[in-house]
Amino acid sequence: MDGDNMTSNDNKSTNVVWHEAQVSREMREQMNGHKGCVLWFTGLSGAGKSTLAHAVEERLHQMDARTFVIDGDNVRHGLCADLNFSDEDRVENIRRVGEVAGLFVQAGLLTLTAFISPFRADRDRVRHILGNDFIEIYCDTPLDVCESRDVKGLYKRARAGEIPAFTGISSPYEAPENPEIRVNTGHGDLHVCVDQVIAYLQQREILF
Ligand code: ADX
Repeated sequence: MDGDNMTSNDNKSTNVVWHEAQVSREMREQMNGHKGCVLWFTGLSGAGKSTLAHAVEERLHQMDARTFVIDGDNVRHGLCADLNFSDEDRVENIRRVGEVAGLFVQAGLLTLTAFISPFRADRDRVRHILGNDFIEIYCDTPLDVCESRDVKGLYKRARAGEIPAFTGISSPYEAPENPEIRVNTGHGDLHVCVDQVIAYLQQREILF
């Protein structure tokens, strides 16, 4: 890459031919005993995305499911370490994560992503690429609750003007309009939120 952010429309890779695998997604899913999908957790910083994603993963793991959590804070140490929190870099962050999550789905995994993913258009782009494999989970915790928790002390610093473009303070968060699941991560019980996600997966027959 030459420093420009890529979108799916400006592919610079030419003379490249797709290689079909002998082991199909269906064969992997059969072996795993469940389908692959992406559980896309979105919400403000401190909303409880990572906590819920890991709690859901733990429950799924106990059910012998194959899972993986892609976490915003972790990915920004490696795959996306070159990105900051400008609008442009957040777009690229979500684009990359969407692509990686898509690969994990092909691997037959129940893939959980925990990113603020503040822009509706970015989430919708991933939804468009992944189709029915994309399950949007809105961690609906109001800003005042996130701010009162302030687990990482970032809201205090953002209010003091020490962190530019902080989501909810000086950068927008566009809440999902029609998420597959809305969880009350503000005042709700964690186990109830986990149950809600598992019940959805069973109802959709993603868990056989
Ligand atoms: S996203 O907007 O691109 O989806 P991402 O989920 O990767 O964000 O990272 C969010 C985490 O980065 C937050 O939980 C917080 O710990 C940290 N962070 C650092 N600076 C900012 C900022 N300006 N806005 C939001 N989160 C920030």
